[in-house]
Amino acid sequence: MKPSGEDQAVPGGGDPWEECFEAAVQLALRAGQIIRKALTEDKHVSTKTSAADLVTETDHLVEDLIISELQKRFPSHSRFIAEETTASGAKCVLTHSPTWIIDPIDGTCNFVHRFPTVAVSIGFAVHQELEFGVIHHCTEERLYTGRRGQGAFCNGQRLQVSGETDLSKALVLTEIGPKRDPATLKLFLSNMERLLHAKAHGVRVIGSSTLALCHLASGAADAYYQFGLHCWDLAAATVIIREAGGIVMDTSGGPLDLMSCRVVAAGTREMATLIAQALQTINYGRDDEL
Ligand code: IPD
Repeated sequence: MKPSGEDQAVPGGGDPWEECFEAAVQLALRAGQIIRKALTEDKHVSTKTSAADLVTETDHLVEDLIISELQKRFPSHSRFIAEETTASGAKCVLTHSPTWIIDPIDGTCNFVHRFPTVAVSIGFAVHQELEFGVIHHCTEERLYTGRRGQGAFCNGQRLQVSGETDLSKALVLTEIGPKRDPATLKLFLSNMERLLHAKAHGVRVIGSSTLALCHLASGAADAYYQFGLHCWDLAAATVIIREAGGIVMDTSGGPLDLMSCRVVAAGTREMATLIAQALQTINYGRDDEL
């Protein structure tokens, strides 16, 4: 079933953020059309924090479009945390005001290589609480949504995480993150090795944090962990996972800190705790100190 704005609407009964949610859905779908077209065209590629941290003109185009449309539609909203604006020096601070948290293309490296695992991610927080998340898998035309207290859906089908608690029966997802220095790579590989020694069925890297997290929300994987992702990779997906019944926490085993650049998520608390206990920390700093 193709996504449309309508089939995502959950009877809300007075949700104050209904209009914002609908706007996010429409913009994510519109952004998806632009990204799908651009995927097959020549791109101008630049690097940001490392040679593996890529950006294209389409990342900027989509981000500008989403922010300008939201500003027109909600003139009282002035807080936007977005990947490319942050890369240009904007501060990344979550206040109590309504805040839009945007990744215009998650999986930019995939996008550059025409590897068809690419998403737009739009999250929305008020009083530092995530209210909804919308993620559009652009090439497969899947629209993932989650609204606080109202469930999580993919193209209208309700999402449910897996109930797996045994690491030796788990399919685990992760992402490499942008750093490629030898010490970081050693820790990254050693973390993967620890999970494989614990006899996890597999560890997968698909090149898009948000879509990996959506796979977790749909029960297609049992756990996800990463060091080096950003709040715009995580915000929308966190609502979707929680509303699908899952756990999103810090790699220390404590509560999630959206700005900490690290996460463990799983279908069950037992699984998330096992993963957190197995991991060695890779320090990526914090988004609010960028
Ligand atoms: C990145 C991707 C990548 C992950 C990085 C993310 P971007 O997002 O999700 O898989 O390893 O940590 O920042 O740069 O493509 O939006």
